[in-house]
Formats: sequence, structure tokens, C-alpha cells
Amino acid sequence: MAVDVLLGLQWGDEGKGKIVDVLSAGYDLIARFQGGPNAGHTLEFEGKKFVLNTIPSGIFFDNTMNLIGNGVVIDPITLKKELDKLKDAGHDLLAKKNLMIAKKAHLILPTHQLLDAASEKKMGDGKIGSTLKGIGPTYMDKTGRNGLRIGDITLADFKDKYQKLVDKHTSMLQAMYGEVADFSEREAAFFEAIEYIKQFPLVDSEHLVNNYIKEGKKVLAEGAQGAMLDIDFGSYPFVTSSNTTAAGACTGLGIAPSKIGDVIGIFKAYCTRVGGGPFPTELHDETGEELRRIGHEFGATTGRPRRCGWIDLPALKYAIMLNGVTQMVMTKADVLSGFDKIYACTHYNYLGEQIDYMPYDICSVDAVPVLKEINGWAEDITGIDELNEIPAKLQSYIEFLEAELQVPIKWLSVGPDRKQTLVLH
Ligand code: GTP
Repeated sequence: MAVDVLLGLQWGDEGKGKIVDVLSAGYDLIARFQGGPNAGHTLEFEGKKFVLNTIPSGIFFDNTMNLIGNGVVIDPITLKKELDKLKDAGHDLLAKKNLMIAKKAHLILPTHQLLDAASEKKMGDGKIGSTLKGIGPTYMDKTGRNGLRIGDITLADFKDKYQKLVDKHTSMLQAMYGEVADFSEREAAFFEAIEYIKQFPLVDSEHLVNNYIKEGKKVLAEGAQGAMLDIDFGSYPFVTSSNTTAAGACTGLGIAPSKIGDVIGIFKAYCTRVGGGPFPTELHDETGEELRRIGHEFGATTGRPRRCGWIDLPALKYAIMLNGVTQMVMTKADVLSGFDKIYACTHYNYLGEQIDYMPYDICSVDAVPVLKEINGWAEDITGIDELNEIPAKLQSYIEFLEAELQVPIKWLSVGPDRKQTLVLH
């Protein structure tokens, strides 16, 4: 038995939450492997809507266990808020006993958020577009070997360890910026949340996941953000602080590469990006605004408007190569209904040449998209549930993408609800 990996192929917000939820019933364990509460996985079913930041998207199924893996960074305050909201909506995960947390997952401290904000302020126009949730500084402490982990919260000297790290942060803030904002309220909320989280099983998740594999159970590794935001391969420095690619599932859960089965890549029928950084197919005109309006392209966590543009095939090919994608999901095809013409970027004009890959210096040298015009479809597809109801022009778009990308599009999502999903192959 192997672990399937599900991840975003663009710059995040591809609709991973919805698709994990759709697939969850077929898995015994859903495990988040990287990122932090900057993720906003949106799920809709039976007229209800949930946004999950840290909690895996498999929690709504009775026979599916969920794990926050070691590669994730956890803000206890946000996690408690998420758990409280779910409890209010009738999903008490403590009672359901369907959530476990890796002891080796790192903790986001209130002072990590102060460092995040101070760093973005200092960068001025060159800022990364951080969500200011303290995620970058937490990963820095992880690699700097200073971090605090979930497993530490049960230790007798946890408060001493916490204070030692906070003292380091405050002296850094003082030296660099001359001030430290008051964080006493957040600190109190942090310790309150820690007490609550202690009640969940804190596990050696690498053993847990490998035992699931040994027992022949099905595991799905759930990614956050997207391949083009990967710390190594994304549009650096405008990236997130973790490995969003399939390799991140290995380090973020403790599984060997040989244990990876299918890699399911999700992409939107067009393209969006939040925050700064290169986005070759971005539309700065009314069409971009139309995509944003129809697609409700505003961050699930931050409310920030997303930048919108046409689908970018060189970027998708790159993401498919990096991840070894075996199956794909196309979401938000319904948003393109009614566009007379749609476009796909097949190449870039770059330094006088036509190329079909992401150049190293994409952050500083323009890659101008070469666009192929494609006939759009007029039909509203949000209510279709049979393959023969797919408009012919959408079917041609799907076939064009499969031919270009050389990977089957197995699922087509035509709306935010769990039910608005078609299996194509
Ligand atoms: P990140 O980890 O933050 O990147 O999240 P994500 O990939 O789970 O995506 P997110 O939930 O932020 O954004 C996707 C949005 O599109 C949500 O509001 C979904 O409900 C919605 N959505 C998902 N699939 C479809 C679809 O096929 N059509 C439409 N119209 N909306 C969809």
C-alpha cells in the first residue's frame, strides 16, 4: 500500500480543501504535511461552508482519521479557534476522536508574528506579501534549531523553553527595530490554547503513518499552498517557507519516497496568485476583474483580492515534473462559462527567445506570455452531473490541456459544493 499525495500545481487556492473532502471517504487517514494557518481550505456541503486552516480536510467523515503532520507549523490560538468553530457547528473533534497531532510539528509563538510583521515592514516595496501569521519566522527557528515543538508542551520545563525563545525574539526585535509591541494578550491566549490542545493525542506520527501503510490502510497526504510557492522551486523569494511539492510529503510525514503512490495535482481552469511575485499571465484589465468577481477570488483567510490571469502551461508543466503528477483535477471550470474566448499561455517570450519553461530569473526579467486563443463555452455547467452534459467546447479545452500536459484530468470540479464534481476517467 502506498500514500497518495494531493497538492496544488499553481500558486495556491486551487480548491484542495474541496477535493480532499470529496476523496476522503476512500481513505483511512488524511495527513496535512506542510504549511501553517496561512492555508484556507474551503469545504462546502449540505448548504454549509467551512474554512480549515490547520486541520486536515477529512474530518467530516466518520471512518477517516486525521493527522496534523510534523512538517506543519501550528499556531495554537488559531487551531483552538478552528476547533471551537467546528464544535459550535456540531463537530466536536475531541469527542469524535478523529484528530491527532505530530509531536514534531513546530509551534508558532506570538513573538513569531511580531517578527513577521517587523520583517515585512522593513522590506517596504520588496515585501514578500506574507500573511503575517508568523509562519516564516517559525520555519526559520526550526532550521535554526531553536524551535519549540508540540511534543514540548507536555514537558515540565515547557514554560522555561518558551521564555528562552521569547527572550531571543524580543532582543532581536529591540535591536533591529527599537521596539517590541505588547503581546501579553496573545500570550495569555496562547497558553490557554495549549492547555486545550494537550487533550488531543500527540503522536510520533512517522510511526503512525508507516503503521497505516503496513496494515494496508489508505493514506492521503494533503498539501497546502501550491507548487509555484515551494521554498526551493517556486518563484523565490516570493514563496512560502516550506516544501509544497511531493518531496515535502516525505519530510513532512516521515514516509519514504518509495511509499508514494498517486500524486494528484490540482489546478484551476485559469490562474490566480496572492501577494507579490511574478505572474506572467496576470490580467490587469477588465477580464481580470471579471475572473475575480465571478470566481470570488478573495483569500479565504485574509480576504485579500487574488490576482487573476489565464492558465499558464509552462508553469503547470514545471509543477507536474517536480511532483511526478499522475492524475489531475481541474477546478473552477464553471467560472469560465460565458467567456467568448479564453486563452492558454503555451510559451514565454524571454530575452528574444520563445521558451516553454520557467526561467531562473523570472523575478527580474519579463517572461511575456504567448497566448493560444480557445473558444469558450456559454453554458452554465454548475448543475451538470453526467459526462454527456459537458459542453463540447469545454470538452475540447480538457482534451487540449491533457495533450499539452500529458497527464489525465481525472476529476472536473464545476462548483464549490462536494456534489459538483465529475469523474472524467
Ligand atoms: P490553500 O491551501 O489556501 O491554497 O487552499 P485551497 O486550495 O483549499 O483553496 P481555497 O479553499 O482557498 O479556494 C478555493 C475556493 O474555490 C473556495 O472558496 C472553494 O469553495 C471554491 N471552489 C473549489 N472548487 C470550485 C469550483 O469548481 N468552482 C467554484 N466556483 N468554486 C470552487
